[in-house]
Amino acid sequence: MFRQSQKWHAENKIVAIVPTMGALHEGHISLIRAAKSKADKVIVSIFVNPTQFGPNEDYDNYPRTLSEDIKKCREAGVDVVFSPSVPAMYPDNSSTWVNEDVLSQYLCGTRRKGHFRGVCTIVLKLFMICSPDIAIFGQKDAQQSIIICRMVRDLNIPVKIIVAPIKRESDGLAISSRNKYLSPKEREQATVIYKGLQEVKKWQKEKLSVAQIRRKLIRFIQQEKDIRIDYISIVNVDTISEITRPDKGDKLLIAVAVFFNKARLIDNIEIKW
Ligand code: PAF
Repeated sequence: MFRQSQKWHAENKIVAIVPTMGALHEGHISLIRAAKSKADKVIVSIFVNPTQFGPNEDYDNYPRTLSEDIKKCREAGVDVVFSPSVPAMYPDNSSTWVNEDVLSQYLCGTRRKGHFRGVCTIVLKLFMICSPDIAIFGQKDAQQSIIICRMVRDLNIPVKIIVAPIKRESDGLAISSRNKYLSPKEREQATVIYKGLQEVKKWQKEKLSVAQIRRKLIRFIQQEKDIRIDYISIVNVDTISEITRPDKGDKLLIAVAVFFNKARLIDNIEIKW
């Protein structure tokens, strides 16, 4: 992969990567479209990365649909699908990791210990192997994108990160590979997440405080009894730390993580205070 990419660079081609764990859906296709609009050559990596899953998470059950994914990539005009094996990415006795120490402490980082270490490590490895100029990530995983931007800055990695907007179903549910885990009833109930996030804008106009907005959002989402809230946080977009008294003009991330049985869904919106 590295040689192919170097060849493209020698031909002055701009190379983009869209890192994925496969089970490709419209959300991924929108990232591929964003990549194609910015680059001459597009690589999609498909790798279910074991090191970003906790012991009780869904690594074994994570949907794996490689041949369909390759077909979708072909239809979307992807130049190369890079789909390495686990031993190729993590040789025996692998013992070097990339740790981002601060932003990883919040939101999903408190719930999924070691998750962002796994993400940063694999993303850096993909960058080393694929040598892209540009990498596209989705805003749905807002914290992941923020941490990757920090890693790229801190380690002087010559890759431009582009964060593409969340792709949603027509009823607002953020498209995710994990939506497959929902029963039809849960799928219907899951629309409460986006509806709640939209209510936030209304509550903000009513001049409610951050604490009041957070409490109202919790109550709104809890209307659906099958949902278990993992966290609902209102944080500063740059530091991902909780914010209680924002200044006018501050950018806030309203981040939600919920469970339906074992399926964990996340969503977010950004607002300007
Ligand atoms: O967002 C994902 O699908 C994964 O976290 C990523 C970036 C492909 C790393 O495994």
